[in-house]
Amino acid sequence: MNYDAIVLGAGAAGLMCAAVAGQRGRRVLLLDHADQVGKKILISGGGRCNFTNIHTRPDAYISANPHFAKSALARYTPADFIALVAAYGIAYHEKTLGQLFCDGSAKQIVALLLEECAKGQVDVRVGQPVGAVSHADGRFTVRFGDQDFTAPALVIATGGPSIPKMGATGFAYDLARQFGLKVVEPRPALVPLTLGGDDVLFRDLSGIAAPVEARAGKAAFREAALFTHKGLSGPAILQVSSYWRHGEPVTIDFLPDAAPGWLTEAKRSRPRATLASVLALPDRLAQTLADRLALPGELAAQTDRKLADAEARLKRWTFRPNGTEGFAKAEVTIGGIATAGLSSQTMMAKSVANLYAVGEAVDVTGWLGGYNFQWAWASGNAAGQVI
Ligand code: FDA
Repeated sequence: MNYDAIVLGAGAAGLMCAAVAGQRGRRVLLLDHADQVGKKILISGGGRCNFTNIHTRPDAYISANPHFAKSALARYTPADFIALVAAYGIAYHEKTLGQLFCDGSAKQIVALLLEECAKGQVDVRVGQPVGAVSHADGRFTVRFGDQDFTAPALVIATGGPSIPKMGATGFAYDLARQFGLKVVEPRPALVPLTLGGDDVLFRDLSGIAAPVEARAGKAAFREAALFTHKGLSGPAILQVSSYWRHGEPVTIDFLPDAAPGWLTEAKRSRPRATLASVLALPDRLAQTLADRLALPGELAAQTDRKLADAEARLKRWTFRPNGTEGFAKAEVTIGGIATAGLSSQTMMAKSVANLYAVGEAVDVTGWLGGYNFQWAWASGNAAGQVI
């Protein structure tokens, strides 16, 4: 077969890229070592795939170059993907914060992408290891199982190493380095944080969740936090994990809606109450926080000064996570193929003609909530329009 392009990795970005290029009349070969395409799509969003976020904007993405994602995101928007979903008659709903999910199943999104590939006569092949990749005389050659395939363009769409048990690998980085591209240090992101030291007693609260505002560095997210038997999780924590660095604190405002001075006010209005009983939080969490604040007895017995200090601590409760649950539990990988070496218009490598990188393999990482698929669609489309 005479292909115009080989796309490596049949995940969200690779499927989109191959479909767009195929429908432009390009002869595309899409290769994946997994036994089926789009495995992460299938498990995403609890099986319902949070396929985009209607509030997509460049500042919801983390990258060494915060401007890099702008062009691709502007040229393929959530409305574009929603139109595709609607054209296939897939019912969907907004769950929260602009997050769109299928009413039915993530399988519908994979079926949509496969149908789009079929419309473009993409040759989809799965279930064989990808071996050596070489480049000579303007052609890329890829070993797939025991066959060699060659084409003048190659797209790296093999994602990041998050959830290796699903077939995720760091192959994209090896390939990028092989072609002289730089890789921004990959780290697990959207990942639970682990607690040790003084914070271990919070692990006893495993299963308890509360709406909080979590902060790491300059980032702040108001969503639920969840205590786990290893530490902290829940959307607010997953979001800040992408900004957190080892050794830094994560602070939590346990009562983000409380008015300043609410605790001294509670002392006036409910003098016989205890601290734990006035905390509008799940009982065991309220008790643990109150124990740590060491203000026993009735509020009336406390000085206003002590109550103001307690209120300040509840507003900025400091945890010092000792790590994350790692790539095994990370929803995405932060870092990846350095954007400095890629065109933001086409995703082509500046130093190697007709070599492209798209999706999570690239150093662009979105927030939780459909932003990462939107980047996969947008970057896949950007390359698919030009290969
Ligand atoms: P993706 O990982 O989808 O695809 C890469 C493909 O390359 C895979 O098919 C893989 O088999 C293949 N591959 C890897 N190594 C290879 C090799 N060496 N040789 C050949 N093929 C290879 N995002 C979101 O926006 N909304 C959501 O609801 C969720 N939910 C979610 C849940 C869970 C549990 C996870 C782990 C992740 C999410 N995400 C998400 C993130 C989202 O899944 C992710 O950002 C995209 O799948 C990235 O798309 P890519 O195509 O870049 O990589």
